[in-house]
Amino acid sequence: MSLDVITLRESFDLVVSRAPDMTRRFYAILFERYPQVRPLFGRSTEKQEQMLTRALVAVLDRLEDGAWLGDTLRALGAKHVDYGVTEEMYPWVGDALLATLAEVAGEAWTPQVEKAWTDAYAAIAGLMLDGARRATERSTRSEAVAAAPPPG
Ligand code: HEM
Repeated sequence: MSLDVITLRESFDLVVSRAPDMTRRFYAILFERYPQVRPLFGRSTEKQEQMLTRALVAVLDRLEDGAWLGDTLRALGAKHVDYGVTEEMYPWVGDALLATLAEVAGEAWTPQVEKAWTDAYAAIAGLMLDGARRATERSTRSEAVAAAPPPG
C-alpha cells in the first residue's frame, strides 16, 4: 500500500491536538447525514467514541507493517459483518470521517492532505471489505456443509 504516511500522521496529530473530542463530532456528522446507521450502534457512547480514533491511531502507527494491517483489518471487517455493517455503508463512514477532519483542520486541509486521507480510507475499507467477504463466504460454506446429508 503506498500511502502518504508523513502527511497522514502530521494532519492527524494536528486534528487531535485541536479537537481531542473529534470522534464526538464524527458521530454527530455521521448520524446527521446517515441517520439509518444509528440503530447499529447499540453500546454506550463511550464505546462508540473509541471506535474510529483508537483504530485510526493503531493503523497510523503500523502503516509500514503490511502484514499486520492486512490481518488486523480483515479481522475487523469480518467483525463488522456481525455488527450489521454492509458494503454500502463504508463510503458513508468515509464521508463523515473526511468531513470531520476537514472541519477541524480548517486551513491545513489542503488538496494533498485530502488525497492522503481519501487514499488511506480506501485502502483501510478495501481490506475490511475483503475480510467481510471472506467471512461471509466461510459461513455460507459451513451452512451448506451443515445442511448436506451425512456421508454414507
Ligand atoms: C475505516 C473503517 C472502520 C474502522 C477503522 C472501524 C473500526 C471499528 C472498531 C475498532 C470497532 C470496535 C469494536 C471492534 O474491535 O470490533 C468498531 C465497531 C463498530 N463499527 Fe466500525 N469501523 C469502520 C467502519 C465502519 C462502518 C462503515 C460502519 C457502518 C456504519 C461501522 C460500524 C460499527 C459498529 C456498529 C460497531 C459496533 C459498535 C457498538 O457495538 O456500539 N464501522 N469499528
